[in-house]
Amino acid sequence: MSTYVVVGLQYGDEGKGKITDVLSAKSDYVVRFQGGDNAGHTVYVGDEKFVLHLLPSGVLQCKGKCIIANGVVVNPKAFIKEIEQIESKGLKTDHVFISRRSHVIMPYHILLDTYREEEQGGTQIGTTKKGIGPCYEDKIARVGIRMIDLLNPEVLREKIEKNLKVKNSLFEKYFEKPGLDVEEIFQEFLALGERLKDRIVDTELEINEAIQEGKNILFEGAQALMLDIDFGTYPYVTSSSPSTGGVCTGAGVPPTALENLIGVAKAYTTRVGNGPFPTELDNELGEKIRQIGFEFGATTGRPRRTGWLDLVSLKHACMINGINNLVITKLDVLTGISPLKIATKYKTEDSKIIDYFTSSTTKLYDYEPIYEELEGWTEDITNARTYDELPANAKKYIEFIEAYLGINVYLVSVGPERSQNIIRKELF
Ligand code: GDP
Ligand code: IMO
Ligand code: MG
Repeated sequence: MSTYVVVGLQYGDEGKGKITDVLSAKSDYVVRFQGGDNAGHTVYVGDEKFVLHLLPSGVLQCKGKCIIANGVVVNPKAFIKEIEQIESKGLKTDHVFISRRSHVIMPYHILLDTYREEEQGGTQIGTTKKGIGPCYEDKIARVGIRMIDLLNPEVLREKIEKNLKVKNSLFEKYFEKPGLDVEEIFQEFLALGERLKDRIVDTELEINEAIQEGKNILFEGAQALMLDIDFGTYPYVTSSSPSTGGVCTGAGVPPTALENLIGVAKAYTTRVGNGPFPTELDNELGEKIRQIGFEFGATTGRPRRTGWLDLVSLKHACMINGINNLVITKLDVLTGISPLKIATKYKTEDSKIIDYFTSSTTKLYDYEPIYEELEGWTEDITNARTYDELPANAKKYIEFIEAYLGINVYLVSVGPERSQNIIRKELF
């Protein structure tokens, strides 16, 4: 077996896309297992920028197959748009497939997501408005439309009819918005099914057979553990399980098949959307990090909130995921900032000192991070390719993280370009 799982350990945008791209050159399969086109994974190849949303980032380098597995929610129109964008850059996409079991994001999911977010006085999550939450709701409520349904006109029409009865009543009566037309949506999605039919396949058998044959399989996570529906800062989370555990249900793979569990964290923290963020720097330094790190959402363009590295939440994320290989990205962004702070504990609202993450999202707003201070460095590290080329204080920063978490950092990323990596151990 040679399985690799890449997951985010913070609030998303850790650089998972870049790491997946690097690892996918040696992968026979790259598999997305959760989320949808709420993700924005950026890969730089030279000066050329690719932003992947729904397609696995492996699409650029993987010589084998790229699979969108059953746990992903698929907007077929977004899929086609992305395929066309990739093809317009001269790359092939005939190795990209979608599970027949994947749920389809329908126009009413997007509207519901949007109307809820725009509702005055609601607790806005700050979603990407891509219809992710409402699509997963329908999946769990057992009324969802799956990719396989796009290939069966009778089933598709019946399901759209049933769903619109309920959704239109909600739109018209509660949100005071116009309802949607069954026939129009039916014709549109039937045509999308026809267009995509050769890519809609069963995926779990092939993935499991490939694992048994010892092929290299890379599972690419979207979002991150602090946005996990169970273990993140609920309700300010996404609606899936972006954890290593999510691979099992999201791709149909047994837990015993997962070997290399790679957790990606930025050298600092960012968050886009609402919710608690204990180490947030809502000040000039936070703005400086945003500008240097170019911290703007790849999907919505929103400025990302920025802050110090938070080892309390990172330890929580590593525990839930069982991480055995760490990646630290964007270390270069911290160049020139001194001292550097790292949160190692929290002081609770009743002055207790704790070093574990809490389930109480409301209390988290009142927790004060307790920091360790480390001296920074001023040398440009973007051209470093071996660990020894890093300044002593940059190494101390990495080693502080390793010692706290008890996990080795196997890769340090020092720039957005594909080659800007310090690889301390070859995993393949
Ligand atoms: P993802 O969602 O986890 O794939 O991350 P995003 O692509 O949304 O955000 C990460 C951003 O940081 C992208 O713009 C990357 O090009 C960029 N990036 C990744 N690694 C590094 C790094 O080591 N240094 C710098 N400066 N930028 C990086
Ligand atoms: P990648 O894969 C960062 C955030 C949204 C919002 C919350 C719920 O690029 O790391 P949703 O649309 O999923 O219902 O929004 O989750 N969010 C992300 N933040 N990176 C992402 O993906 C995200 N996907 C969703 O901003 O706070
Ligand atoms: Mg992103």
